[in-house]
Amino acid sequence: TLSNATNIFWQDCQLGKPERQKLLNQKGCVVWITGLSGSGKSTLACSLSSELHSRGKLSYILDGDNLRHGLNKDLGFKAEDRTENIRRTGEVAKLFADAGLICVASLISPYRRDRDTCRAMLPDSNFIEVYMNMPLSLCEARDPKGLYKLARAGKIKGFTGIDDPYEPPLNCEIEIKEDSGVCPTPYVMAGKVVSYLEEKG
Ligand code: PPS
Repeated sequence: TLSNATNIFWQDCQLGKPERQKLLNQKGCVVWITGLSGSGKSTLACSLSSELHSRGKLSYILDGDNLRHGLNKDLGFKAEDRTENIRRTGEVAKLFADAGLICVASLISPYRRDRDTCRAMLPDSNFIEVYMNMPLSLCEARDPKGLYKLARAGKIKGFTGIDDPYEPPLNCEIEIKEDSGVCPTPYVMAGKVVSYLEEKG
């Protein structure tokens, strides 16, 4: 998106990301968790953050539902609002990564193009897309907030997976799915992401 402001200049400071990363002894990056409502995004985000914490790594969770209580409270669920929701969150995630943190973003982020926009904001290796590939039937059976029920009853319009699209990633770094019909535990899911991060340094 083009900026609406003119006469603006980028300000640099001697102290940059490398110095902050050295201080924290870690590399700033964004772990972007995408998937249907009820697919376990927030559960993975919390578990991952705890696992990182216990390894002395500083992370911060940007949860879609939570951000909609503040930063994104002016946005609803129509396509352009979701796109702005993801763009804004991507920009914030980029700032956290620049601060040297492992930023764990957990949003449905249903549109591939919007996720790719966020990916393009960062060096490729600093954006790790995690796809919660859980069947709709499972998410709907879980229905932790009772929203699928409302959507099926027509009381929520434009609910992702019911009457609004979800576009799965084509080239995600990590995919979480059932193993012979069994869902991995939060600990196992987090372990998969931690292993990936360790492997990539
Ligand atoms: S998005 O699509 O990325 O902009 O959505 P996100 O910011 O992650 O917010 C998703 C949470 O909002 C609740 N909710 C809805 N989700 C999908 N579609 C509709 N219409 C909707 N209305 C409300 C729901 O609690 C989502 O939370 P999660 O954690 O995904 O279950």
